[in-house]
Amino acid sequence: MAIILGLESSCDETAAALVTSEREILAHALAGQEAAHRPFGGVVPEIAARAHVDAMTPLVAQVFEESGLSLADVDAVAATAGPGLIGGVMVGLMTGKGLALAGGKPLIAVNHLEGHALSPRLADPDLAFPYLLLLVSGGHCQLLLVEGVGAYRRLATTIDDAAGEAYDKTAKLLGLGFPGGPAVEEAAKAGDPKAVPLPRPLMGSDEPHFSFAGLKSAVLRARDSGQYAPEDIAASFQQAVIDCLIDRTEQALESVGDINALVVAGGVASNAAIRSALQALAVNESLNYIAPPPWLCTDNAAMIAWAGAERFAAGLTDPLDVPARARWPLDADAAKARGAGVKA
Ligand code: KG4
Ligand code: ZN
Repeated sequence: MAIILGLESSCDETAAALVTSEREILAHALAGQEAAHRPFGGVVPEIAARAHVDAMTPLVAQVFEESGLSLADVDAVAATAGPGLIGGVMVGLMTGKGLALAGGKPLIAVNHLEGHALSPRLADPDLAFPYLLLLVSGGHCQLLLVEGVGAYRRLATTIDDAAGEAYDKTAKLLGLGFPGGPAVEEAAKAGDPKAVPLPRPLMGSDEPHFSFAGLKSAVLRARDSGQYAPEDIAASFQQAVIDCLIDRTEQALESVGDINALVVAGGVASNAAIRSALQALAVNESLNYIAPPPWLCTDNAAMIAWAGAERFAAGLTDPLDVPARARWPLDADAAKARGAGVKA
């Protein structure tokens, strides 16, 4: 059995965790930064980086204290090395390098997206490769065929905004506050999903990709029309997102061969309405369906430690000069999607 220390700092959560190769979460700790970013209505990179500096080492001390372990007990140190806000990524990666050097432990540079992609295997010991993954977060909206550790085939990506980004922008437009995803989900519960006619960009298209920028603009027009209650706009927006996610996932299912499960991960996968719509699709297609618990969908270090455990078992470790990367696609061979030049 291996014990992996995982560190995460790529966006606005600072986190540390100790996870074993047997899927036991020995300790995990997380410090959010919502209060620091709220006055600006979004994540401010410079503020995030400084907050990671403040929080990271105390969180590492905390997981050691809670587990009763020390650095000597750890088999490897895994840290997110990208993609993400570079100042934050550097904080976690440098902390990981320092601990690896001090403890004489192997370093594992984890791609944050790989953390999300493998997190369902931490949640479910029976989930075997290959599976179709809908990865929906603040920075990404992708369909990936997960064939093994380090073997990811990107089938679709967004040509403009990510799904979480669309939630965050909609929350801002409707004055629902920050962070936006949970606020829109909550408001949508009190609204009518059929009240506002909103577009479903790329739905039914042969192109496999996602698009959410037009939806956001339509939300702005609906708001400015003064015709609709914010709750109805939120509910209609969420229904449009769900319809797009289901349509694109259905199309991807047609293009892949035999898979063991339909899996959803990433921060947006903590949304109950999205989770149940995907579950219904899986039932319809007679597929197993795996959605990690909500806390494992939003950013955390247990998924980074777990990805580290999977890589460690495969003999994949990294040198101490491994770089921090703002952009780092999971599937380096994926063809560029139309207009998607700025997305990792
Ligand atoms: O995976 P994550 O924690 O960080 C990134 O890697 O981006 O995802 C954060 C995104 C944010 O856009 C946030 O608004 C969205 O996930 N999110 C949600 C919900 N909770 C978080 N979106 C919709 N419904 C939610 N309940
Ligand atoms: Zn994430």
